[in-house]
Amino acid sequence: MRIGVFCSGGDAPGMNACVRAIVREAVGRGHEVVGILRGYHGLLNRQFYVASLSHDSSVIDTLPTPTPSADTPPLMSLRSVSDWSRHGGAFLRSSRSEEFRTETGVLKAVGVLRQCQIDALIPIGGDGTMRGCVELQRHWNGQILGLPGTIDNDLHGSDFTIGFSTAVRTAVEAMDKLRDTAESHERLFLIEVMGRHSGYIAVYAALAGAAEVVCVPETDTRIPEIVEQLRLLRERKKASVLMVVAEGDEAGDAAAIARQLEQAGCPYAARVVVLGHIQRGGTPTPEDRVLASELGSWAVDALLEGHSGALVGKVGGVRQLTPFSETFQSHRPLPPDLRQLIETLAQ
Ligand code: F6P
Repeated sequence: MRIGVFCSGGDAPGMNACVRAIVREAVGRGHEVVGILRGYHGLLNRQFYVASLSHDSSVIDTLPTPTPSADTPPLMSLRSVSDWSRHGGAFLRSSRSEEFRTETGVLKAVGVLRQCQIDALIPIGGDGTMRGCVELQRHWNGQILGLPGTIDNDLHGSDFTIGFSTAVRTAVEAMDKLRDTAESHERLFLIEVMGRHSGYIAVYAALAGAAEVVCVPETDTRIPEIVEQLRLLRERKKASVLMVVAEGDEAGDAAAIARQLEQAGCPYAARVVVLGHIQRGGTPTPEDRVLASELGSWAVDALLEGHSGALVGKVGGVRQLTPFSETFQSHRPLPPDLRQLIETLAQ
């Protein structure tokens, strides 16, 4: 079987470990893997990963790599993914493709898949990537299994997505530093984290970083109530306050919320820090590497068992296949107990 793999959408730490697992599992079992560069964009434009000589020695390799021809894209070998696990970013590159959103684009992609004799595809990405899989599936009769690669943790079908753990760690490391200076100057810091329409990163970072307040799109942000809470904390001699704001919060971004707090009589001087794309980079945590390795390996297993049309995730510690459309159709709710816990502990 010839399997195509690509990373798509916002990159997520652990994507490289996931590609490594797919290649090692598939090539080790006698199958072929084609690394497609830049997600759907690279597929449309026939852009493939070619291993550098230093990483791809046929002396070390156990399986021969056929010479690339017009219809045979370059194949990934066992050695081409050596040392990939520990690196953040996406060696296969990633992008968001406008062209693939059109029917003409989808049909063009199908043409490339047929021409390259690719039997199955494993796209790694978030909700946009899974939407793309649905479209592709309507026109292509090859197998497709998606893997959840996004820092946002907003897909149904997997308890955690690849990259989430690392993004939370990055946010918490920043919060620990900000707590030092917040405490010295007796200030409030509003820390804006990513997550698009989801508050997952915000809630986990807030709990792990011992924040006093968290604002997420899933619940109403009530400025007067927050100011009341801050007054109480001031009375209780709390020197500093950390407030995590999810970028998708309905009350606005962290700067907007800071202005609203000031106007409502916030008892702390406030500063705003936007963590932004820093959360997308860095060495993947062991949790992300383990998850990425398991999911990559499970995806190959599932393809060989004949499965298609689903996201391969890990739910309650075991492999779960969820039809693509179910992974993004509704908003994934936050665990309610975690929000409550943040409030209980912030006294
Ligand atoms: O989906 C991942 C993510 O990092 C979101 O958290 C964020 O809203 C978005 O991507 C940013 O996208 P871009 O890198 O295109 O600015």
